[in-house]
Amino acid sequence: MRTRLLRSYPSNFCVDGIPAGKECATPGRSADICLLEISLTELALKKGKTAVIVGAQWGDEGKGKIVDVLSENFSVVARYAGGHNAGHTVIINGKKFVLQLVPCGVLRAGCRSVIGNGVVLDPIAFLKEAGALRENGVKIDGNLFVSNRAHVILPYHRMIELAAENAPGRVKIGTTSRGIGPAYEDKMGRRGLRVADLLDLQLLKKHIENAVREKNMIAHALFNTEPLDADKMYTEYAQAAEKIAPFVCDTAVLLNQALNQGEAILFEGAQGTMLDIDHGTYPFVTSSSATSGGAVIGTGVAPNAINSVIGISKAYCTRVGEGPFPSEDKGDAGDNLRKRGNEYGAVTGRPRRTGWLDLPLLRYSGMINGTNWLVITKLDVLDELAEIPVCVGYKIDGKATSDVPAQASGYDKIECVYQKRSGWRTSTEGITDYEKLPKAARDYLAFVEKEAGAKVGMISTGPDRDHTILVDEFVSELKTAAKKA
Ligand code: IMP
Repeated sequence: MRTRLLRSYPSNFCVDGIPAGKECATPGRSADICLLEISLTELALKKGKTAVIVGAQWGDEGKGKIVDVLSENFSVVARYAGGHNAGHTVIINGKKFVLQLVPCGVLRAGCRSVIGNGVVLDPIAFLKEAGALRENGVKIDGNLFVSNRAHVILPYHRMIELAAENAPGRVKIGTTSRGIGPAYEDKMGRRGLRVADLLDLQLLKKHIENAVREKNMIAHALFNTEPLDADKMYTEYAQAAEKIAPFVCDTAVLLNQALNQGEAILFEGAQGTMLDIDHGTYPFVTSSSATSGGAVIGTGVAPNAINSVIGISKAYCTRVGEGPFPSEDKGDAGDNLRKRGNEYGAVTGRPRRTGWLDLPLLRYSGMINGTNWLVITKLDVLDELAEIPVCVGYKIDGKATSDVPAQASGYDKIECVYQKRSGWRTSTEGITDYEKLPKAARDYLAFVEKEAGAKVGMISTGPDRDHTILVDEFVSELKTAAKKA
């Protein structure tokens, strides 16, 4: 039986391709609101499918490449959190692209890209990245969109962050120094500047004058920092606003219309679960919701529109910056992982801390994100090892526990319980067929799948787009779910 319900939509909203503002077919309804008698069942059936790509560890899991490969099946790719602290490296036919703000979908012809409201946007960094993409022949005009509700990073955010990170008595987080935290602070403090306000030059001038006065006073009083010049800042950002304007729109409307027209959307997470402001190793986290829930808040798509969650994990583990890392290996084996995996930050160039796959954290990440599928990256980095340690459980004060501590100090008490898995000592680099993997590598993946509680759908065996194994079931699920525009 069909449910026929009457629903009302605001007049600037289109349903099912019927332009907003048209007279409703149902008699007795107000003319200025588009009231459409539609079958919710029909709409639900027609609705495009979505998937969220989320980092299952501390970021740098190789999400960029995975988004790039999977974007083939999607019409739109949308970033939902973070800013230019992220660094997504994608290699296509040997050519390297490092994207910080712009979603990796931009590299796929025919795919629209969205920077959602949950992102903090540095206008200068955005224009630099957009310019570099244009120079490299990547089409961005007309297919890259910036949310009018995204918050803007201004120079005083960086000034405050740099001073605060080095101030005596402060816990050093080891941030990327991009002004991310202070910009989110202003957002939550309800004194931020949004992209829509950036384009309103009168408002921009006033905002910069007031904010610069206040921030200069704070920075001088607390950290003895040199003041910033409001007039200079206004001139620079007013010029940037003019260049950004063509990209700006209400991206929540864009995304919901795309869904209602049956198009598929891929949400591109930045950072990772353990850097999430709520669920990560607080305070050694970033300032946004990096977990899958962030896709909803950070884009304006409803929770019931999320169809699947794809968690990305390296075959081992890394972290940059300060903070807990239970399975860290500070010895020669860790150094070898860094060398073989080229584990240096894409944004800051900092050497990454390295260690072994941490199954309790992977299970925790699966619980928080609702992971349906796992993607394992950098399998080939383990190729030379005779044995691969995997953290299979935690002990605190000698007692086994499955708890992931709430306090950073709680992690210091963790003793990892390791199991050694057999290595394969042969190259897996560039393998594209699961059956061609050495048996020990297949066993390793099967073990991870069983222990993590999510199916492995894809394995990355090298940096290039083509160095990828796709598991049939995963591909067919994506193909039936996805519809290109
Ligand atoms: P912020 O995001 O710059 O405030 O940095 C906070 C913490 O998150 C630091 O430990 C950073 O190293 C880490 N972080 C931020 N973005 C990334 C990323 O894209 N990959 C890995 N770590 C990141």
